[in-house]
Amino acid sequence: MTTSFKGAKPSRRSFLTGAMAAGGALAGAGAVKAAGADPLITEVQDWASYGGDGVDHAPYGLPINFEDDVVRRNVEWLTAGTVSSINFTPIHALDGTITPAGCAFERHHSGAIELKKADYRLMINGLVDTEMVFTYDDLERFPRVNQTYFLECAANTGMEWAGAQLNGAQFTHGMIHNMEYSGISLRSLLEEAGLGKAGDLKDKWLYVEGADASSNGRSIPMEKALDDCMIAFKANGEALRKEHGYPARLVVPGWEGNLWVKWIRRMEVMDQPVQSREETSKYTDTLEDGTSRKWTWVMDAKSVVTSPSPQAPIKHGHGPLVITGLAWSGRGKITRVDISKDGGMTWETARLAAEGQDKALTRFYLDTEWTGEEMFLQSRALDETGYVQPTKAALREVRGENSIYHNNCIQTWYVNANGEAENVEVS
Ligand code: MTE
Ligand code: CO
Repeated sequence: MTTSFKGAKPSRRSFLTGAMAAGGALAGAGAVKAAGADPLITEVQDWASYGGDGVDHAPYGLPINFEDDVVRRNVEWLTAGTVSSINFTPIHALDGTITPAGCAFERHHSGAIELKKADYRLMINGLVDTEMVFTYDDLERFPRVNQTYFLECAANTGMEWAGAQLNGAQFTHGMIHNMEYSGISLRSLLEEAGLGKAGDLKDKWLYVEGADASSNGRSIPMEKALDDCMIAFKANGEALRKEHGYPARLVVPGWEGNLWVKWIRRMEVMDQPVQSREETSKYTDTLEDGTSRKWTWVMDAKSVVTSPSPQAPIKHGHGPLVITGLAWSGRGKITRVDISKDGGMTWETARLAAEGQDKALTRFYLDTEWTGEEMFLQSRALDETGYVQPTKAALREVRGENSIYHNNCIQTWYVNANGEAENVEVS
């Protein structure tokens, strides 16, 4: 095995192969243990001596108990209670791009409701040819579509405007999930009701609201409603979880999470926006001079290193190090991610695990070497429109420090000689 690399420039691959051929475990700075010293590989273990759990051990499975720290978490001081609150996806502990539903963040304005399929109704009214009410079974008979999209709350990273505050990627960037949705196109439903009466669709709006007490009403320009929006029933192959809008929610690809109305119950075609609470006093961005940006729907390109990060320190000593993270853009596909180890002075291009997908998370890796040097780790995403993720300083110059929403600045983790990481800012 080792000879095939003879004469070749030492590489990460030849190093790993050599270590395995010597019969040792990788440890510390690439030291190889003496052959046969490790009973975990030389001795028969308990788990190979007895039968395991039976096949009906858990009819619906949960992660193995060793992984019980990979869970949603709250920031207690952020909200007054749990009914109008938010928790965070443990992005520091996940890999790939799909977020398992059981740890995908939740955001409710008036709690998660339990709504049976039999009690579910969806009404379309306003400027349509025929006002209609659909049951859940009616919805299932429209042609089905499948697509993976990220949902990012507009408030993600919102606590970081005035300074580095929360110590972990879960808390700074965890108001995001990425699931494969199955459902029907919103366009097919609107066409069923008929849009002839609406006339010119360019200046029309669709007001959407949920069945929960908050209703979370939002106005969506008709052009977007007819483009790529979906009414989803399933996420990652199974029914939506209660907390994500069972039995049906709106999917508004690339746009702020607040528009993705859960438990969707009514849609009204209108000739103007409603100017609801969620699009006037909330989900607008206050600038330095006190004026506000409005209709800030699209989530601009953004990325974060998920490991190493404060909750995912380097534990393996010097040698090969995998730096990894997530990138996304509400304007389309991610085309490149750069990584800096020195706070943005120099950059290396990361490897994308797969070609960027439209309005979905992209996983990136940088396979590198670490010899204990301090790092100011950053990632910078570029999307297919040519947009480049801005630095925190550049974003603050335009937006000031009073905003909550749409903070897509470059994040910095300081990594010390022990491999521990901390949320910092570089100037
Ligand atoms: N829809 C309803 N009906 N009620 C809500 O409180 N919260 C919104 C949106 N849709 C909300 C809603 C907000 S602010 C976000 S970020 C997303 O749902 C969160 O979706 P999730 O709970 O599936 O993560
Ligand atoms: Co939100």
